[in-house]
Amino acid sequence: MGSPGEQAALSLLDQYSCGFMVSQVLFAACELGVFDLLAEAPEALGSDAVAARLGASSRGTELLLDTCVTLRLLQVETRGGKALYANTELSSTYLLRSSPRSQHHMLLYLARTTYLCWAHLAQAVREGRNQYPQAFGVPSDQLFSAIYRSEDEQLQFMRALQDIWSVQGRSVMAAFDLSPFPLICDLGGCSGALAKECVSLYPGCQVTVFDIPEVVQMARKHFPCPEEGRMGFQEGDFFRDRLPHADLYVLARVLHDWADDKCSQLLARVHQACKPGGGILVIESLLDADGRGPLTTQLYSLNMLVQTEGRERTPAQYQALLKAAGFRDIRCQTTGGVYDAILARKWCPPPPPLQPVTAGESQTP
Ligand SMILES: C[S@@+](CC[C@H](N)C(=O)[O-])C[C@H]1O[C@@H](n2cnc3c(N)ncnc32)[C@H](O)[C@@H]1O
Repeated sequence: MGSPGEQAALSLLDQYSCGFMVSQVLFAACELGVFDLLAEAPEALGSDAVAARLGASSRGTELLLDTCVTLRLLQVETRGGKALYANTELSSTYLLRSSPRSQHHMLLYLARTTYLCWAHLAQAVREGRNQYPQAFGVPSDQLFSAIYRSEDEQLQFMRALQDIWSVQGRSVMAAFDLSPFPLICDLGGCSGALAKECVSLYPGCQVTVFDIPEVVQMARKHFPCPEEGRMGFQEGDFFRDRLPHADLYVLARVLHDWADDKCSQLLARVHQACKPGGGILVIESLLDADGRGPLTTQLYSLNMLVQTEGRERTPAQYQALLKAAGFRDIRCQTTGGVYDAILARKWCPPPPPLQPVTAGESQTP
């Protein structure tokens, strides 16, 4: 055995190189329905019972369950010499399909789509572009045509994206007091998950979710909208069509899809649509000032390389884009979660000074 330094280095290397196996354990357990099955069972189950109910092999199931125990996704107790498995708090809260804070659909999307693009990371780095042609055999010159390459894929994407807002939606919408903005437009608002948070947090506001026609149609069909009167959908292309009137425009995880030139184009259109004194709220995962952390955001940025035309950015990079589009009073608010918020305003000229009242004139109220 080598020196302690060498052991530490090899252990770190091992941890990194097996990282994908850990992800696969999580993905496979979700895909097979292990956590849902254990939640529905009246008591903890042995691995043979789990295997039988899932229609899976005894050998594979036992190995998977025991690895989940080590990863703290499951717990085990031994009764009468038999290992019995149950969910942990982590899996009950985040991995059951039925949990209000479930991340199940995001994990399926990572397993079925993102993972396949990441298999081509080296090629993505060489070429500097996403890997839909290599991973799925579809052209990627129209980004969202590649992302929405089938109805099933589109639905999976929309379900996946809303999972994070079930845990972090409130903190990003509460990062700034948005009550001065009664009319809000969520550009690229997808299924309306953030819009729902917004109307529940700000009783005086109305939200229009603006997205491309196939997304709006799928949102209406598959994502119930409990606040029908206070939130609605509008179909359109934010690069081409007239944007709805609003006091505040939200861009959540939209700018990170695009290169700087497209972001500038979009921000200029939002600035043009915005009333003087109106605002824009950008919600993104922010890189540290030097771009070298946090690791999660760096990985998201590489994910933007393999799956989009964009990247994650630092607060200063977003500020520069917003400023160039004409926005002022730019403020950044961290939330303690993965996503943070930046609020900026369109400049509002001060009211003209009151004219001095001359003799014989009266001032109207
Ligand atoms: C990464 S998703 C973010 C969705 C949502 N804002 C969220 O945070 O969950 C980007 C969204 O932009 C929408 N989008 C892409 N291109 C668009 C366009 N040209 N016009 C309107 N929406 C567009 C997509 O359909 C998708 O809903």
